[in-house]
Amino acid sequence: MRLFVGIEFPATVLDALSDCQNRLRGSAKRGRFKRRDNFHLTLKFLGEVPADESKRLIAPLAGIAQAVQPFCLSLGHMGQFGSGSSIRVVWVDVAGETDCLSRLQAQIEQALAEVGFRPEARRWQPHITLAQDVEFSGAIPAWAEFSIDNTAFEVSEFALILSEEQERRRVYTPIHRFVLGS
Ligand code: 2AM
Repeated sequence: MRLFVGIEFPATVLDALSDCQNRLRGSAKRGRFKRRDNFHLTLKFLGEVPADESKRLIAPLAGIAQAVQPFCLSLGHMGQFGSGSSIRVVWVDVAGETDCLSRLQAQIEQALAEVGFRPEARRWQPHITLAQDVEFSGAIPAWAEFSIDNTAFEVSEFALILSEEQERRRVYTPIHRFVLGS
């Protein structure tokens, strides 16, 4: 099973991301746009994990959640990974208590390394993917000109999420939620 650990968003944040994505869509020639249901923030991508091994993840993740208190984030700015005629990822980053977020991510990375999941070689860059392989007919937009609703929201849990292809669609299903501070 293909798994990752991520943060899901309340409906208000999904709305703000959709709004931003719609404006991006308006200025793009083509791209693979994420469905609203699939917007999330990845903390750790695990890749293919045998079903019986996935159980080994629960206890370390639960241990971390118990020791971390909820914190607040807001949507930040738009940006991109990659350059050239096709932009690999157009994303929105986060602001607010990002130190708490980074600490949580580092704890997850370390705990999962201890149970055999290789740590990422690259520095973690928190982002919410809006679209992949995006092409523009003209110049790439100036991301700073996209205004984004930056109302704060509370991060009170994270989830172990199953990523599957269903009827040629990518579907993300939380298989275990970890409530912070409990
Ligand atoms: P992305 O947001 O930049 O697309 C599920 O695939 C999630 O895990 C996505 O959010 C994806 O990041 C992230 N991820 C990180 N590394 C990945 C990889 N090597 N392959 C697929 N997804 C990856």
